Amino acid sequence: MATPHISAEKGDFAKTVLMPGDPLRAKFIADTFLKDVRQVTDVRGMLGFTGTYEGRPISVMGSGMGMPSIGIYSYELFKFYDVDNIIRIGSAGSYTADAKLFDTVLAAGAVSESNYARVQSGNDHDITFPSETLNDKLRASAKKQGIKLIEGNIHSSDVFYRQPSDAKPTYWELLRDERGCLCVEMESFALFANAEVLGKNAACLLTISDSFVSPEITTAEQRQKSFTDMMKVALGAEY
Ligand code: ADE
Repeated sequence: MATPHISAEKGDFAKTVLMPGDPLRAKFIADTFLKDVRQVTDVRGMLGFTGTYEGRPISVMGSGMGMPSIGIYSYELFKFYDVDNIIRIGSAGSYTADAKLFDTVLAAGAVSESNYARVQSGNDHDITFPSETLNDKLRASAKKQGIKLIEGNIHSSDVFYRQPSDAKPTYWELLRDERGCLCVEMESFALFANAEVLGKNAACLLTISDSFVSPEITTAEQRQKSFTDMMKVALGAEY
């Protein structure tokens, strides 16, 4: 029963799917953290895997970059593969010194200029929300493992390369100061919108990979540790 963008059979996905943007990151996660792994889809190179973590079934699949891409994959997973929970695991650029490089952020809401929710379902709000149940599970997982989570709104942007402008305050300062956005990524608004219309659960964990406020030099070791922290929180939750 393939869908237009996923070649898996019904039942190939676990009830919970972790979604990094990069399909090769999905493969790395499956190879590094999961047992009994099998690849379940590869359409357009968007790899998906199912395995177990501490005996519990779990899947991991790339979402691609941006809201149209995660909109397609998350819709098909929720609607046609009976997936209940999708946790985006990604990276983000920080808008504030409160979210430092390599911190792990748990999204409280995704603010966006995107038309995704309006076009998808007529939802003309500019913020969508994750599942509180999933967020509670992720908080419990982090606490159990002594990993600090920074919580707040995030900005889901349609644009990575913005044209330079002299406007003051800048667009991102407004998002920070008026909407409480800690950081920017490009997918969660659409993921949360899909979960809401389909009666499913979604959440988003991010590691801060770059900063709009403090240019810092980073090392491969720091990047690896922050990625591992985020994975421990996502995998250690009892879904
Ligand atoms: N993901 C990581 N860094 C980002 C940035 N600066 N803008 C948008 N998405 C990002």
